Amino acid sequence: MTRVESSNPAGRLAIGDLFAEVRAGLEGVEARLQAELRSRYDNVDRVVRHGYRLGGKRLRPALLLLAGQATGELSGSHETLAVVVEMIHTATLVHDDVLDEADLRRHVDTINARWGNETSVLLGDFLFSHAFYLASTVGTAEACMLIGRSTNRVCEGEMRQTLSGGNLTLSEDDYYAIIDAKTAELCACCCELGAMFSGADADTVAALASYGRHLGMAFQIVDDLLDLEGDESTTGKSLGRDLAKRKMTLPLIHARDTLVDGPQTMFKSQLEAAANPAAILATLRELGSLDYARGVAERYAEKAAADLSCVADSPAKGTLEMLAEFVVSRRG
Ligand code: IPE
Ligand code: IPE
Ligand code: MG
Ligand code: MG
Repeated sequence: MTRVESSNPAGRLAIGDLFAEVRAGLEGVEARLQAELRSRYDNVDRVVRHGYRLGGKRLRPALLLLAGQATGELSGSHETLAVVVEMIHTATLVHDDVLDEADLRRHVDTINARWGNETSVLLGDFLFSHAFYLASTVGTAEACMLIGRSTNRVCEGEMRQTLSGGNLTLSEDDYYAIIDAKTAELCACCCELGAMFSGADADTVAALASYGRHLGMAFQIVDDLLDLEGDESTTGKSLGRDLAKRKMTLPLIHARDTLVDGPQTMFKSQLEAAANPAAILATLRELGSLDYARGVAERYAEKAAADLSCVADSPAKGTLEMLAEFVVSRRG
């Protein structure tokens, strides 16, 4: 299988190439985002437009469109819902950057860095409310219901994480439960909606939702690795925020549970102080904690690919399989 990354070193497929199968649909999503996210007040318009400037990877709309295409035919509802999930995702990022006190997102200043926390809270609300308004236009209450339930779980996951900040005893299971809610849930919702709006049967819809959930788990574990050892110019966002906020991500949990007695106490003091990321990273490398986390991400990605076994072969299905590989090999 071709190696895929979001940056494009020679010989590797970029994420834009990977989405070729749904390029027309994604262009429609982009145009729709630009048309929807406007304000007649110049100062508000500048903030709203900054919210989607340069864009992100557009992974969630792509998941929705690919799931729809792999299980049937795309319709106007797919495009609208793809716009909705990207707005919801962007709203969570705008709020997340306040929580993480981050100043770089999608290669530009965060809303909080440029306009402050108050404007960020309000832009997040603007995006959430616009997303639900749009979701209500697809002619069935089911989309709103699913998206509402998922978004609620995402917010609950972010709250659980925030409330766990500084809890150095967080268990590995609690970590999985938190990332399942804050990240995997929306990916599952995208794939579920895509298949549902293609008229797929209940088992196929459930298989696609499971694919999205497993993919989302792998995606967040790798995101947590990138926060420790990634490159800001490639990811385009502030890194090192998890250590700064004393969030126990998988490599840290593994290291903590591998160490005993004095060395464990010393490691916890280092996490508590959050003053020497390089020393923490060296310990993680020494203990194989980064490899451990990568291995867990790879297993989730394998489960995601296996979820597609009930779907007939097609280019869209092939892309979903490659995406499972992309999420673990990506650098941005
Ligand atoms: C960032 O998501 C938040 C996480 C769930 C890790 P993405 O990495 O998909 O962000 P964009 O949309 O490409 O900016
Ligand atoms: C946040 O996780 C995921 C959301 C649901 C917003 P992160 O805090 O790891 O996301 P990044 O790294 O800031 O993109
Ligand atoms: Mg963050
Ligand atoms: Mg992160």
